[in-house]
Amino acid sequence: MSDKHLRLGVNIDHVATVRNARGGAYPDPLRAAKLAEEAGADGITAHLREDRRHISDADIDGLMEVLSVPLNFEMAATPEMQQIALRHKPHAVCIVPEKREERTTEGGLEVAREENRLAHYIAPLRKAGCRVSIFIAADQRQIEAAHRIGAEVIELHTGAYCDAHAEGRMDDATREMESLREMSTYAHSLGLEVHAGHGLTYDTVQPIAAFPEVRELNIGHFLIGESIFRGLTPAIAEMRRLMDDARG
Ligand code: PXP
Repeated sequence: MSDKHLRLGVNIDHVATVRNARGGAYPDPLRAAKLAEEAGADGITAHLREDRRHISDADIDGLMEVLSVPLNFEMAATPEMQQIALRHKPHAVCIVPEKREERTTEGGLEVAREENRLAHYIAPLRKAGCRVSIFIAADQRQIEAAHRIGAEVIELHTGAYCDAHAEGRMDDATREMESLREMSTYAHSLGLEVHAGHGLTYDTVQPIAAFPEVRELNIGHFLIGESIFRGLTPAIAEMRRLMDDARG
């Protein structure tokens, strides 16, 4: 694929959220993942949280078995998750901060203050062949720390940009977007592969998709929500169209 092709990772966590609201097996996140694959997703993202509020261990087992596209396994930097990742050896591991009481991943990982621990934490994952991505805010200090610990990829947190946009704070949205742009250029100049995600919608995706340094977007909640109205395949197809259009 050329640099121009912007990969779309579809996050299926919230199919599992709906399933778990009732217990049982329906709707099945694996079925959604296969459908997303057929609809043009370049990868599937799933976050196994410490409290297993959506994706379960069995979902990860199943995804590793059925997927033809790469799995981006999101997880907190805990010993338990490291063991699970080393057992499965997914294509990519994305290290995210996790707080039990949060509704979603609220901010980026504090890498700079935990450099030593994280460097030791990711080393075996890299050795096992996983591409290690670190989910961080658009902050030069964090980018430099992610680079120093040996991450190959950073994923920039687009939540502040998307929240400002959704709340009509357009000056803030523009400021956040500019800082994402500047930091994606900076990270790329260090040799890091740049991804982005969190909170992206049809209304917010294009300015981010247009950054030439960004290689992958990970999008979940909006797509799963939108699929209620238009179906998963058309919801993904429209996101793909907007991304390609922004890419020129
Ligand atoms: N990228 C990362 C690292 C995330 O933690 C999440 C949320 O789980 C996403 C992308 C997707 O965010 P959203 O579901 O808001 O599209």
